[in-house]
Amino acid sequence: MIGKIHKQMSHDSWLFSKMATPEYTPFVFLLLLFQSSVWGFPSCHATKPGMLNVHLVPHTHDDVGWLKTVDQYFYGDRNDIQHAGVQYILDSVVDQLLKNPDRRFIYVETAFFYRWWKQQTDDMQNTVKQLVNEGRLEFVNGGWCMSDEATTHYSAVIDQMTMGLRFLNDTFGHCGRPRVAWHIDPFGHAREHASMFAQMGYDGFFFGRLDYQDRNRRMVAREQEMLWRASESLTPPMADLFTGILPNGYNPPEGFCWDQSCDDPPIRDDPDLEDYNVDDVVTRFLHIAHGQALVYKTNHIIMTMGSDFQYENANLWYKNLDKLIRYVNQMQSNGSEVNVLYSTPSCYLQELHRANLTWPLKGDDFFPYADSAHDFWTGYFTSRPALKRYERISNSYLQTCKQLEVLGGPISRKGPFGAGDSETLKKAMAVAQHHDAVSGTEKQHVANDYARKLANGWAHCQVLVSNTLSSLSGSSAPRVYCEHLNISVCPLTETSKKFSVNVYNPLARPVSWPVRLPVNGTVVPVSQATAAVRRGRGYAVNELLFQVQAPPLGYSTYSVSLLQNGPPSPQSSPLPRAPKAVQNKSFSPQPSSLLSLCASIVTLRDFLSSLFCVCLSRYNASDGNNSESIQMSGAYIFRPNTSTPFIISKTAKIETLQEVRQWFSPWVSQVVRLYTDSRALELEWTVGPVPIGDDLGKEVISRLDSSINSSGVFYTDSNGREVLQRRKDYRPTWNLRQSEPIAGNYYPINSRAYIKDDKDQLTVVTDRSQGGGSIQDGSLEIMLHRRLLYDDVRGVGEPLNETSDIYPEGLVVRGRHLLSLSPPATAADTHRPLAQEVVLQPLITFTDGELHPSTRLEVQGPAPQFSGLQAVLPPAVHLLTVSQWDQDTVLLRLEHQYQASESKEHSQPVTVNLQKLFSTLDVLGVSEMNLSANQWKDEMTRLDWKAESGTHHTGVTNQLSAYSAL
Ligand SMILES: *[C@@H]1O[C@H](CO)[C@@H](O)[C@H](O)[C@H]1NC(C)=O
Ligand SMILES: *[C@@H]1O[C@H](CO)[C@@H](O)[C@H](O)[C@H]1NC(C)=O
Ligand SMILES: *[C@@H]1O[C@H](CO)[C@@H](O)[C@H](O)[C@H]1NC(C)=O
Ligand SMILES: *[C@@H]1O[C@H](CO)[C@@H](O)[C@H](O)[C@H]1NC(C)=O
Ligand SMILES: [Zn+2]
Repeated sequence: MIGKIHKQMSHDSWLFSKMATPEYTPFVFLLLLFQSSVWGFPSCHATKPGMLNVHLVPHTHDDVGWLKTVDQYFYGDRNDIQHAGVQYILDSVVDQLLKNPDRRFIYVETAFFYRWWKQQTDDMQNTVKQLVNEGRLEFVNGGWCMSDEATTHYSAVIDQMTMGLRFLNDTFGHCGRPRVAWHIDPFGHAREHASMFAQMGYDGFFFGRLDYQDRNRRMVAREQEMLWRASESLTPPMADLFTGILPNGYNPPEGFCWDQSCDDPPIRDDPDLEDYNVDDVVTRFLHIAHGQALVYKTNHIIMTMGSDFQYENANLWYKNLDKLIRYVNQMQSNGSEVNVLYSTPSCYLQELHRANLTWPLKGDDFFPYADSAHDFWTGYFTSRPALKRYERISNSYLQTCKQLEVLGGPISRKGPFGAGDSETLKKAMAVAQHHDAVSGTEKQHVANDYARKLANGWAHCQVLVSNTLSSLSGSSAPRVYCEHLNISVCPLTETSKKFSVNVYNPLARPVSWPVRLPVNGTVVPVSQATAAVRRGRGYAVNELLFQVQAPPLGYSTYSVSLLQNGPPSPQSSPLPRAPKAVQNKSFSPQPSSLLSLCASIVTLRDFLSSLFCVCLSRYNASDGNNSESIQMSGAYIFRPNTSTPFIISKTAKIETLQEVRQWFSPWVSQVVRLYTDSRALELEWTVGPVPIGDDLGKEVISRLDSSINSSGVFYTDSNGREVLQRRKDYRPTWNLRQSEPIAGNYYPINSRAYIKDDKDQLTVVTDRSQGGGSIQDGSLEIMLHRRLLYDDVRGVGEPLNETSDIYPEGLVVRGRHLLSLSPPATAADTHRPLAQEVVLQPLITFTDGELHPSTRLEVQGPAPQFSGLQAVLPPAVHLLTVSQWDQDTVLLRLEHQYQASESKEHSQPVTVNLQKLFSTLDVLGVSEMNLSANQWKDEMTRLDWKAESGTHHTGVTNQLSAYSAL
């Protein structure tokens, strides 16, 4: 899956050939010596075969930012907001583990553990190593954070897992490798996450949250533990993951919370004192244990003894747990058949494996998550759309930064522009994957902190990028970064009369990309919407639009000169490949019909007059004043107060230039663009400040209505990778009682969604994670922005009411949807690459040129060019990671990006010649690793699990047959 490419040693050409199914491309080559010792499970306490064994798992759930920032949580700062200090938790737990070798603890979030570790003495570090070696302190999950599953992209999740797991392996070796993935808090679970965890070598996965109806059914059927078959493309058991649902979310059973933050009675075990309560505690405990055993399959059950930021004074917990174990087990001499022990998730998992049972098979995912009839956690799919976009482009920027670190060599980190690094952005991105970060469910000041950390990471990467580009191009001119090109702000292009534009493409195939630059010269006038959203940050009246081509893993340079004022002369068009009008071979809109309902009816003649309209509408948020439920819409929860969206305006004001500009209201507008040769129609939406003068929260959607006969079915991607089928008012694994016709039909969209019938497929590619659904046949709606006036009582304690210094009356958000319409059989060939170009977009940088006397805009280029690859990779292969690993090795991830049977042409095996991959690196040898690069591939042994036959659920079977019918 992953290899390290060694530089500077010669080697024969080496060919890698792809298997029959798409997958993370494996390649095998061993150079380094490695230990082949197989590590068993760490010392687990003995269990009793004839008894009910209760595994007590002491744990803390430490959010990498939520109500406080990650740093405030670490130090225990701002305890007025929430009492929580991770440094004290780790201090206290280590101290308590040393007091009794029977005690166990698990730790999850490496972002915190890493901070703590750096501050320990050698003695303390050695002590902790011993605790880890003895299995008394066990790492579970072990990523930098516990990532969100609905709003993250797989590329960023793999990176954050790699970072945490690498620290654990570097620090603790084999004994530090987590066996169990542990996502106790994320609000629903993505199939792609399970697939990644399987490929990262985890033996099992535990979580706490799933739909309440699903849970009830699984409890009765004893199906809370199952085998998740998490990919339709990988050959089982490659993406099979044993998955267990924890009994109390991740909390202790009722009455047994002994943290300093809890009020449950301690065990009072002095028989001489009046308030002796051991009998009562033991009786209550046995009752709970027997009850729990009824809804699980084996004679082993797990209890999570801990919760959010618990164990700051670990003595309270351990003192009582020691006693609980002693007194409950003492009852065995009176015939009790319950055995309690300190345990960990991997010890529990080992017992389940030993039980040698068959487990139900799960093929779909765990979205959406509802905790009761009117409480669907589908709002956070869209919450904080600006942060979601910033996180997504930061990923693109980080991949570019890491590539240029490799391509530039040591000069990238210490060069003419100073000391640069990719580490700062890596850490900021890793923290941003947390389930209260990119999810948008944190307090406002914490959201600001995530954004600030990302911005700081960008600054460090910019130095690195400048160093490398200067070294590769031989020009030491200062490099200028314009981060506000989406709102046509770039001081350099607005003022300079001659400048050059460098377009770096992080994809392994050439791209053609439209560039829009703010200028005072000729060409497309800046729209009113853009001028309004800039708020004094730029003054250019026009945009220069041209199409650039950039080679794989490389750049092209264009030079732009202002030659004369006024309109361009017809002979020398300043618009190479600019759109003539909103029209190309795939889409032929008729301007006259643009004024009808929803404002932009576009007739697609090429596709037998499938008619569709794009319409920006909104829901009014429930304020809780409702006969069915008092649940309000908030950061987590989506609950509109009616099931019909409000059309914001039946007639939009339309301007047709080289693009169609629509005004639905002063705070909702959209630009529709078509580029020559483009496979897609671009919809650039601008929403905000959302008015709240009427005391109503609002959730703005873009709805695409078409004549496609979609029969209640639509498709969404899972973390940007495989696509899952969705069906209205339906769940593949249980009989749904639908109680929220809109919110209960929303699913996460990370990069694309589509509807289709026999003839047409309409795909929407998004530029960030958003929520969406298909409420009517032929229709696809995507939520763009939300502004809410109430907290939804899930802990964040603030209404989602975003403002900023520049937008004090409400945040304005802009984004893009790319629409493509193709026959279903070939649609993937378009939307996969399209989505990828949006995820890994080119980096555009500028250098100022000498002042030029003339004043007409002219674009020249591309020249010069550079490509880090010797040849373009085959279309099926995506270059997922190129990153410096240590001094002489590079971490490389190649991925077969097509799903099984998705594309006639591309869902086929491919061959890549690694030896001839890079133009500037010699490949000396390759060692294959697991997906998270913390295990050598041939050391990877996972527990095997047997699936019950006949439990492959209908949703998945249908989906497979739908594919094979294409
Ligand atoms: C597991 O169960 C199967 C029958 O389902 C049996 O053949 C096999 O021997 C058992 N394995 C162990 C280790 O008990
Ligand atoms: C560009 O044009 C705007 C509007 O005419 C003007 O305010 C601004 O000063 C101009 N900038 C330059 C650098 O000429
Ligand atoms: C929302 O934000 C606006 C602007 O800061 C403020 O005036 C208003 O009181 C806020 N409303 C709520 C419910 O927080
Ligand atoms: C993990 O750490 C061990 C001990 O330091 C080392 O031998 C091994 O190569 C590391 N594994 C990987 C995949 O880096
Ligand atoms: Zn959490």
